[in-house]
This record gives sequence, C-alpha cells and structure tokens, in this order.
Amino acid sequence: MSPRFRVNFNTMIFLVVLQGAAVVLFCNWYYQLSPCDSPPRKGKVHVLLLSSWRSGSSFLGQVFSQHPSVFYLMEPGWHVWTKIEKPGARVLRMAVRDLMRSLYQCDFSVMDSYMPENYNMSTLFMFHHSRALCSPPACSLTRRSDMSNETLCQKKCDSQGLEKVEKACHTYSHVVLKETRFFELESLYPLFQDPNLDLRIVHLVRDPRAVIRSREESAKSFDVDSAIVLEQRNVPAASVQYEVMQEICRSHVRINERAILKPPPFLKEMTNQMEEWIYKVTHGKGKGSKKEAFQITSRNANEVSQAWRTLLQHSKVKRIQDLCKGAMSLLGYRTVDSEKEQKRLDIDLLVPREPYEFSWISAKSQRTGSS
Ligand SMILES: *[C@@H]1O[C@H](CO)[C@@H](O)[C@H](O)[C@H]1NC(C)=O
Ligand SMILES: *[C@@H]1O[C@H](CO)[C@@H](O)[C@H](O)[C@H]1NC(C)=O
Repeated sequence: MSPRFRVNFNTMIFLVVLQGAAVVLFCNWYYQLSPCDSPPRKGKVHVLLLSSWRSGSSFLGQVFSQHPSVFYLMEPGWHVWTKIEKPGARVLRMAVRDLMRSLYQCDFSVMDSYMPENYNMSTLFMFHHSRALCSPPACSLTRRSDMSNETLCQKKCDSQGLEKVEKACHTYSHVVLKETRFFELESLYPLFQDPNLDLRIVHLVRDPRAVIRSREESAKSFDVDSAIVLEQRNVPAASVQYEVMQEICRSHVRINERAILKPPPFLKEMTNQMEEWIYKVTHGKGKGSKKEAFQITSRNANEVSQAWRTLLQHSKVKRIQDLCKGAMSLLGYRTVDSEKEQKRLDIDLLVPREPYEFSWISAKSQRTGSS
C-alpha cells in the first residue's frame, strides 16, 4: 500500500469520472491497492461506487471486484427496491443507506429482511459478479489471486445462507459497493462522518444521450426501477425514459453541488496531499502494462459511447439535451444543434479537461474564497 493512498483523509474522495477517462483513473487507483498476500489492515477501506444505470459502473465494478484485496458487491440496494416496491426512491434511500452501512461492516444479517425464505448465497443480486464470492472462503472455484469467470461461478458457487459470504467479507482489506439508487448525498452523510468507515466515493457519470440510447434498448427491464425513481407518479409510457433521465441529470447536479460547490464542513477538509493524489490519479501518470490491457476496453468503450450519435434520432437528442442542460454543461458535455453536427463524429463533444479542472479548482477556490 503506497503511503499516498494511506493518507488519512476521513472525508471522501469525490471524482467525477467521464467515459474513457474512467479507465485510466481506475487503473491508477487499482495499482495502489495493497497486494493480496498482505494481511488485511486494521482500518479497512470502504468504497462506494456511486453511479446510475447504463453508465459503465458494472465494468468499473469489475475492475475493483477482480482485485485480490477487494470484497465487492453489486447493487445491494436492488434487494430493498425489489422487496419494497410500492414507495418511491425518497422513502427507500435510508433503508438502502442502512443496508450499506451494515454490509460495509460485513454484517449480512440485515439482508434477512429482503431475502426470500431459505435463501442461498446465489440469491444475492449478481453474486457471480463478485470475484470474492467465487473464491475461498465463499467458494473454492477461483484462487483469490486469479481472475474469476462469472459463468462458471454462477454454475458452481453457492451455499445455504450468507454465513460464508460474511466470513469472506471479513478477510478483505477493502469493501467496495456499487450502487445506482442514490439521487442525492445528504442521506449518506452519516456514513461519511463515521470514522470507522473511512468511506471514499467514486461518482461515475456518463453522457445522458448515450444513457438514453442504452436504456431504450432494454426499457422493459427498467420498469420497476423507473416507477420507483418517478415516485410511482403516473407518467405516459412514451415519457417515462425521459422523466427518469431528468431525475438522473438533476441528481448529477445535486450531488456535484453538494460535494464541490456547497460542501458541508466535513466534506471540505480536503488535504493538500489528497488533492495531489487526486490530481495524479486523474491525470494518469505512469503507463504500466496493466493500463495498456485496459486500453483495449477503453477504445471499445469509446466506440460504444459514440453509438448514440448515429443511432439516436435527432429529435430525441434535442429532447434529452433540453432536459439535461444543466448537468451536461456542468459535466462538460457539448450539445449538438443539428442532425448534421450530431452525426459528424470528428466533432468532439467532450469539453477537454474542463470537468476535472472545474471540480478541483472549484473546490480550491471555494476553500480560499470562504476562509
Ligand atoms: C468462462 O468459462 C466458460 C465455460 O468454461 C468458457 O466457455 C468461457 O470462455 C469463460 N470465459 C472467460 C471470459 O474466460
Ligand atoms: C439453494 O436454494 C435452493 C432452493 O431453495 C435449494 O434447492 C438448493 O439446494 C440451495 N443450494 C445450496 C447450495 O444450498
């Protein structure tokens, strides 16, 4: 574990990650996690990968999950949302937060409320996406130092109850949860302020035009989640995806404002070392072979991220740009004004660097400005 990573910042790391750039960021962070053969440290590190649907968080989750020091769970909040369907996101967020707090502490008894009778490890949402659940002591299939195979894990790994899951969790130095079900930060404050958690947050965002196009492909599978996001409001079927996107875009603005523009005191304690560390990870120094391995995916991801430009009707693009105007400008996505501009892939729609500079310069000037 490098000293830089161990800097004791008991606040959070807040990173707005943009497609492509995300890969670089994670490789660097990934490097800095402790190697698998070192014993778990006393103070465990807890990471929340906060994102939204169809934003690449499953991939980033995998980058964490495959690391030998990480115990990873994908969207534990899914259990809350599917068990208690009726209310909206606002009512359920505290339950999701408390669930996460218990899981960070490797207390899985909390899951009992949300599981069916006689549940198994495989009842956990996407359990096979967690390498830790495919490895000892949860399962004998994959050595902890090896990359796991989801298909095989799903077939071969299971056990009654969550005892082995809990046992496994205790053996890791890092617990990483990915969650898509928060639309603000306020409900998470108690977690930030808990010194035992030492929580870091990675906020992953994606161009809303790419998200809507991706959501359109599998709209049906979002029905339950969409209804909860929209607080069970009656919304015409043709508008559901757009109204959900609007909520998601609003949440980007809200989260960004909270964390960067108007942070509460405990979020403002950014140390110089921390800023330095963040600068380094976001500006991707050091080109190791691991990083090159990820660049293949990165290139593919880039193509995927541009797919909406040829496949999404311009009228839809305009509509989403309208709904997400604030978030897009905040995050550095350029709008297109015509179909021609949309389809000209040589026009770059990412405002270069601005999102990073925006984030950290703002944090800095906020501090000097207010003190
Ligand atoms: C996972 O295992 C299955 C079954 O053995 C195999 O067909 C597949 O190629 C493996 N996937 C990867 C990514 O290695
Ligand atoms: C998992 O649950 C199913 C249904 O409850 C059961 O038939 C099966 O034996 C369980 N598997 C394990 C490994 O306990």
